[in-house]
Amino acid sequence: MSSLNVLSISQFSNFGFLAGQAVGWNTPVVLSPAKNTFIFRVFIQQTRAKFRALIFLKKMILMNRNESIMVIQKQEFYKKGIYYTVRSANGKDAKELSELRVQIDGETENLDRERGEAYIDPSGFEHIIREDSANRRSLFLVAVAEGRIVGFSRCQGSDLTRVSHKVEFGVCVSRDYWGYGIGTNLLKESISWADSSGIKKITLSVLETNDRAIQLYKKFGFEVEGLLKKDKWLSDGKYYDTVVMGRFHE
Ligand SMILES: CC(C)(COP(=O)(O)OP(=O)(O)OC[C@H]1O[C@@H](n2cnc3c(N)ncnc32)[C@H](O)[C@@H]1OP(=O)(O)O)[C@@H](O)C(=O)NCCC(=O)NCCS
Repeated sequence: MSSLNVLSISQFSNFGFLAGQAVGWNTPVVLSPAKNTFIFRVFIQQTRAKFRALIFLKKMILMNRNESIMVIQKQEFYKKGIYYTVRSANGKDAKELSELRVQIDGETENLDRERGEAYIDPSGFEHIIREDSANRRSLFLVAVAEGRIVGFSRCQGSDLTRVSHKVEFGVCVSRDYWGYGIGTNLLKESISWADSSGIKKITLSVLETNDRAIQLYKKFGFEVEGLLKKDKWLSDGKYYDTVVMGRFHE
């Protein structure tokens, strides 16, 4: 700070006080008749402010590093005449996801719920997306075609140490968009995220009659770990087994 500045500030002590507050100094600038003391105090305050700015910058860099682990940037795909993208979900997707989940639940018996059961409203989805984005062991992806979300997948991890090596995978695609590789690409992106994030096991469960999904999982290295007998009761009045599958990454 030049002596000219010091002199001009010292003539306007109120200005010195306000300027100190404006840059976030905790202690106001108290002007002393002794210029040396004043310069020393200003120096200390400026150093403190710089130190705080450095800590803030470091926090931002760390946050960015974490986000790059959890966020999948938009990937573009084309199959059988349609273009679609796969990316991480964000808060703005919540309403669409809430509606799509109800729709898909009504389109298939391969999922656990009948249409409208265990409803998650948009704020519920906002919460899930926020949690997944903040958790390095979870990933929530959406597939967007023709301007709307047509499928989504989720890898859900845990903070519990003993199960922190694995995530549970779930996926669903709107029936009109089956066969376009959307399920494949949601799974592919999830696997490559998991492998590069140090996840050792991806686990899932699938209805024994869901050939489409079982084929898909086998193609990507999932193996059958076991059967949960008479695990589902479907609209034909019969019981069905659930197949438990896992994919291991050394
Ligand atoms: C299972 C599901 C996610 C697949 O999504 P999709 O976008 O249709 O899948 P894809 O187009 O990527 O096809 C994936 C694979 O399914 C298999 N598949 C496709 N059609 C099939 C059919 N008619 N019969 C058997 N397998 C079939 C193939 O292996 C295909 O891969 P390929 O085309 O490279 O050979 C989707 O059908 C779905 O959401 N179903 C309802 C919800 C559900 O079952 N979720 C899984 C719960 S565990």
